[in-house]
Amino acid sequence: MAKNTFYVTTPIYYVNDIPHIGHAYTTIAADVLARYKRLSGYDVFFLTGTDEHGQKIERTALESGEQPQSLADRVVERFKELWARLNISYNDFIRTTELRHKEAVRAFFQKVYQQGDIYLGDYEGWYCTPCESFITETQVSLENNCPDCGRPAERVKEKSFFFRMSKYQEPLLDHIEKNPAFIQPVSRRNEIISFVKGGLKDLSISRTSFRWGIPVPFQPDHIIYVWFDALTNYISAIGYPGNQGLFQNFWPADVHLVGKDILRFHTVYWPTFLMAAGLPLPKKVFAHGWWTVEGKKMSKSLRNVVDPNRLIDTYGADAVRYFLLREVPFGLDGDFSHETFIQRINSDLANDLGNLFNRSLVMIKKYFGGRLPTASTPGDGAILLKSKAEELYQELEPAFNELAFNKVLTRAWELINITNKYIDSSAPWVLAKEPARKSELGQVLYSVMETLRIITLTLAPFMPSTAEEMWYQLGREEDLWGQQINSIKDWGLSPAGIEVRPRKQLFPRLERDISLKFKEEITDRGAALIPEPQAPGSDPRPPIPSLISLAQFQQVDLRTARVLEAEVVKGSKKLIKLKLDLDYEKRTVVAGIAQSYQPEELLGKTVILVANLEPTKLMGIESQGMILAADTDEATGKLALATFTDQVKPGTRLR
Ligand code: MSP
Repeated sequence: MAKNTFYVTTPIYYVNDIPHIGHAYTTIAADVLARYKRLSGYDVFFLTGTDEHGQKIERTALESGEQPQSLADRVVERFKELWARLNISYNDFIRTTELRHKEAVRAFFQKVYQQGDIYLGDYEGWYCTPCESFITETQVSLENNCPDCGRPAERVKEKSFFFRMSKYQEPLLDHIEKNPAFIQPVSRRNEIISFVKGGLKDLSISRTSFRWGIPVPFQPDHIIYVWFDALTNYISAIGYPGNQGLFQNFWPADVHLVGKDILRFHTVYWPTFLMAAGLPLPKKVFAHGWWTVEGKKMSKSLRNVVDPNRLIDTYGADAVRYFLLREVPFGLDGDFSHETFIQRINSDLANDLGNLFNRSLVMIKKYFGGRLPTASTPGDGAILLKSKAEELYQELEPAFNELAFNKVLTRAWELINITNKYIDSSAPWVLAKEPARKSELGQVLYSVMETLRIITLTLAPFMPSTAEEMWYQLGREEDLWGQQINSIKDWGLSPAGIEVRPRKQLFPRLERDISLKFKEEITDRGAALIPEPQAPGSDPRPPIPSLISLAQFQQVDLRTARVLEAEVVKGSKKLIKLKLDLDYEKRTVVAGIAQSYQPEELLGKTVILVANLEPTKLMGIESQGMILAADTDEATGKLALATFTDQVKPGTRLR
């Protein structure tokens, strides 16, 4: 019999910045769900990836003097590394610059076009590049800011292909109304219903004012709108336009997990595109809330962006996973505070769970030589444990179906706390003193160990490494991930006689002052675009690249060059266009130095040029080389140009 399938996705993340806890949040939630479904016997497909096209990425890359593809190639590694550290068990990672994706987008566009739902027109209105969204005259604020993010919108006037979204207003409303589970939570569903009722206009789905994206197949001067491109990832990764194999097994997706900021794209644009292409709609789109940090919006300018890598270095991946899903009901906004974080780890993980686990195993070791006693029926006192465990089982599936992760964890902790109380009230250390009560002692400890089995399985999706460690220490040889979560409903499955293997503590208690020091460090640092990860207490020396030979060095043509002209590149905050004299020729070079120098200061300076670097285009200008500089302040992007103390003739080779 074919297995039930389950398809869960995260948004694909923009590569204009490195991952922070907001990105980690969605991805961890998707991972917990995927692991739970696998343990429930489903054939799961879990997809994540990166959104690499569009004006925003193009601008970020060019402003730092880099090609968009090379920025994407670098940043994508940061996402993949973080997902590995967080134990994210995705089945596939899609990048929108991959051929398989581009082909799918072209086919999807073509399909909607052939269906008659795409036409050529003129777009005149506003565009928000940070949100990559078109804004109508009525939506833009009086100051011409984006209604969603509040940042300045840009006036756009260009030829554009339009998607007949208006045609799908009624079918979409009808679908939302007939399928209460389609948009969750309910408050968000209501927002979308009133948005759709307010009227859907046709949507511009191509741009001609930049190049970084997928060209329209039959009109390549048009670049396909980045949201049309990005949303298609959910089908390109499973083989669209093919309709066999993965596509046949997994489409429509069971749930798209998204942040509330991008709900409209997923519940208005995406379903109407799919309707036009004649494809079924995803079964559910769930919008979770937004994290602030210590009460403030996370932002680079406030320097309060929390880098999950730093949290993992200090507290471990499972503590981060636990905190994010335990602290706030999925769907509501939450605040990340270091104090609460530390408090939760100490009280829930180190005290409640860690102590329970540790003391139980120590008692098995001490009173039964490490072997689980025989007593598969609970004694009177343990009846409560058994019924609490049954209650947990009953609530597990509905809670996961509602994505109420914190409810599952609250119930699990009720069981943990009751077990701790049960140990205190049955006082095994007293029973152990009376040989006549050995079997009673065995019964108490068996019940405790059985509860620990149930707790381990329940926590496995949330804290996979901790659960593996618990499973090992419980003496189990079978693969944890080969277990069925349903087995928690059957009391008495822990085999008597197996030998427990207590070793390290699950969660050492954190000292408050260490944590406070960490807090200062992390909030003072913020996340730069691509800072090198530095483990606390690691070697302060910079990493030394591998050695090269003299011949290799001599391949680099370094030359002195005199600045003849300098002007700020229009539309850019960082770039200056320089005309350089090398004596034997003149060169145009675009350099990211506008935050450190005024153009006039540069005139007449002698700088060092990498003269045999491949030319590249920055903001439409060909840059014929690169000049050398050193950072003076990484945080503000300030730098100092390499120049000479003595007079040097332009064009002289450095050696
Ligand atoms: N590339 C688009 C999504 C395309 S999906 C077809 C995008 N990318 S993003 O990099 O900006 O990531 C957005 C997602 O990151 C949000 O929807 C949310 O899932 C997560 N978060 C980013 N910041 C967040 C918080 N401060 N808090 C919680 N989640 C946040 O939009």
